[in-house]
Amino acid sequence: MNPPPDDAVEMESSATVSSGEPKEYSSMREIVDSVGRITLENEQLFQRLIDGERRFRGLAKAVRKVQEEERRRLARDLHDGIGQTLVALRNQLERLAQRVSSDSEVSERLHDSAALTLLALNDTREMSRLLRPPVLDDLGLEAALRWLARSLKERTGLEVELDCDLDDKRFDPDIETLIFRVVQEALTNVVKHADSTNARVTVERTEVDMRVQVSDTGIGFDPRAALGTTADGCGLRGIRDRLELFGGQMELLTAPEAGCTMKMRVPYSQVQQARADA
Ligand SMILES: Nc1ncnc2c1ncn2[C@@H]1O[C@H](COP(=O)(O)OP(=O)(O)O)[C@@H](O)[C@H]1O
Ligand SMILES: [Mg+2]
Repeated sequence: MNPPPDDAVEMESSATVSSGEPKEYSSMREIVDSVGRITLENEQLFQRLIDGERRFRGLAKAVRKVQEEERRRLARDLHDGIGQTLVALRNQLERLAQRVSSDSEVSERLHDSAALTLLALNDTREMSRLLRPPVLDDLGLEAALRWLARSLKERTGLEVELDCDLDDKRFDPDIETLIFRVVQEALTNVVKHADSTNARVTVERTEVDMRVQVSDTGIGFDPRAALGTTADGCGLRGIRDRLELFGGQMELLTAPEAGCTMKMRVPYSQVQQARADA
């Protein structure tokens, strides 16, 4: 902008403008106008931020949904494809073993092979259930958590005490999946890291939210390091991010040698019952 001519400076110093309005009033109006403009721009930017955040949450939820759908498909393929083939193979091996004399080496090998096939079959079924337990879709969250506790006890020896007051009610399927997955990850952490043979899971509903707590009495850890950006793995951060997508939160109460309690809550507006009571 060009500097004002000398005579303009002279005019300004007399504190009036050509309209006759005092100079302070006119510059005051300019300030008010620009504050108004800036406020409006801020509001528009804020609205864009909110819209972007909403779109991002929608997209992230859709990605999770696709991921669960893919897990469901893989679980079915494993169970019905490889699983059925292994059943047929085992039956055939046992029939062959019956045809050869029982004390021959061939019979022994056939029985061993049938036993190995059974191991592979059980592993395949377990993998399929872990990918997406059918009980979660068929019977809901509480039954799925009971299955998870039983299955962990059988596979790893971890004793899980489950205290769940859902009365086998059904909830929004995305919420059932969310809570099942976060408890699954938290219990897997107990098995992998806690050096504890016991864990406790509680699930309760209040007027405003659903509260889930997973605790162990193991070696504990530094939560800031585990949640930091340089931390290995994405389990804990994954739990936190997944909960945030549904307006929920996670709190970690832990310290080295002091066990770990993971508290999670999801607002009830997200948990609404999607189906008639089971
Ligand atoms: N229940 C627990 N007890 C002890 N340490 C834990 C527990 N849960 C998590 N941790 C620690 O936090 C780290 C991060 O956990 P996580 O994000 O789930 O990643 P990952 O399990 O793949 O290592 C773990 O490597 C472990 O050191
Ligand atoms: Mg983990």
